[in-house]
Amino acid sequence: MELYDVMRTTFAVREFTDDPLPDPALYRIIDNARFAPSGGNRQGTHVTVVRDATVRQRLAALNVPGAQRYFAQLAAGEGPWNPVAPSGVPGETIAATTVSDEFTAPFRRAAVVLVVTVDLTCVAATDQQLDRVGVVSGASVYPLVWNILLAARNEGYGGTLTTMAVPEEEQIRELLGIPDTHAVAALVPLGKPRKQLSKLRRRPVEEFTTRDRFDGAPCNFKHELCTARRRAPRRDAEMSTVPSRQARLAHAAKHAELWNAGKREEWIASWRTIVPGEVRMFDPVGTEEKQGFDTATGDAYDMFQSILKIKMITVQVNGNEMAWVCENSFGTEPNVQKAYSIETFAWDGDGNLLIKTYYPMPESVDADSDPYAHLLDGQ
Ligand SMILES: Cc1cc2nc3c(=O)[nH]c(=O)nc-3n(C[C@H](O)[C@H](O)[C@H](O)COP(=O)(O)O)c2cc1C
Repeated sequence: MELYDVMRTTFAVREFTDDPLPDPALYRIIDNARFAPSGGNRQGTHVTVVRDATVRQRLAALNVPGAQRYFAQLAAGEGPWNPVAPSGVPGETIAATTVSDEFTAPFRRAAVVLVVTVDLTCVAATDQQLDRVGVVSGASVYPLVWNILLAARNEGYGGTLTTMAVPEEEQIRELLGIPDTHAVAALVPLGKPRKQLSKLRRRPVEEFTTRDRFDGAPCNFKHELCTARRRAPRRDAEMSTVPSRQARLAHAAKHAELWNAGKREEWIASWRTIVPGEVRMFDPVGTEEKQGFDTATGDAYDMFQSILKIKMITVQVNGNEMAWVCENSFGTEPNVQKAYSIETFAWDGDGNLLIKTYYPMPESVDADSDPYAHLLDGQ
C-alpha cells in the first residue's frame, strides 16, 4: 500500500476473523516497525508475543477494572482517566459498571496479543521534574507501537493500541515474567480485521495548527498549496504523462464490464493504465476529499461492488480530461435504486488524476453521514 493510504486508514481494529497471523508476517511487521525512534536511540523496548489462549484470556480479564472506571467516568460526564481533573465517581459505582465485550473480546479473538514494555532505565524523561504527569517517556516506546500497527495494516492485518490493562501492571508482570525495570506501555491485539474502515474521523489540519505562536493564526495550508500549484511552471506537452486518448477510451470501454463481472484485479489494473501518478477524488462532489490510488480503486470496489452494477451511457475525452455518464443500479432485486452519475477525470502534467463524481445528492453532506445512504435505503 501507499504510505499515505496506510496512515489515513489505520483504525482501531477490535473485530477479527479466525485467520491466523503467521510468524513470517509478524516477523515482517516487527522487522519494519523496529526502525521507530527512541530517546538517545536507547531502544529499551521489548515485545512479548502472546499466542497462548489461557494467557490471552487472563490479559482480557485484566482490562476490566480499568475499563469499568473508564465507562463509569464517561457516564458521569468526566474525562476518563484524566490526570488533570481527578474523578469524583465513587468506588462502588465503578465496581458496579459493566464493560462491553467489545473491549475484552479482542484479546481472546485476535490471532496474537503483543505486550509492549519499555525499560525505564533506558528512557530519557526530560519532563520528570515538571509538576505534571510525564509524557516524554512514552515517546521512547509508542512510535514502535504505532509502527507495528501501520506495518500490520500494510500486510492486511490490524489491531488496537490498548492501555486499559496497564493499571494492573503488577499482575501482567507476574503473568508474563516482566522484570521490575520494565513498564507496560501497551497491549496490542493483532489479527485479520473483519471489516475495513477507510474513513477515519480526525480533526482537519487547520483546527490544530497555528503560525509562529500557539495562539497564532490558523494555518491555511490548502489555500497556500493551491496558489503554489497555480504558479508552478507548465511542463512541455511532449513531457506530459497524461495517458493517451486511446488508453482512456480503452479503459472506459472496459470499466463497467470488469466491475459488473467482479474482476477486481483486472478492473484495478485497467485503472492503472490511465493513472501514472496519484489520485485525488471527490466522490461525490460535496464530500471530503479522498486520496490515493488504492482508495479510489480497491477500497471503493470492496465497499460497493457487491451492491452496485454499472452501465456506461456515454464517454467524452477532451484534452487532459475525460467525462462519462453511468447508470448505476444500487442494491439487489427486488430493492434496486437507479441513479445517474456524471464522473469527470482531469490529469495534471505529472499524470496525477483528479476525479469528481456527481450524483443526485442532498445539498450538504456532513463529515459523519453516508452520502449514499439515500440511494441505499433499505439495503
Ligand atoms: C493511548 C491510547 C490508549 C488506548 N487505549 C485503548 C484501550 O485500552 N482499549 C481500546 O479498545 N482502545 C484503546 N485505544 C484505541 C482508541 O480508542 C482509538 O485509537 C481511537 O478511538 C481512534 O479509533 P479509530 O482509529 O478506529 O478511529 C487507545 C488509543 C490510544 C492512542
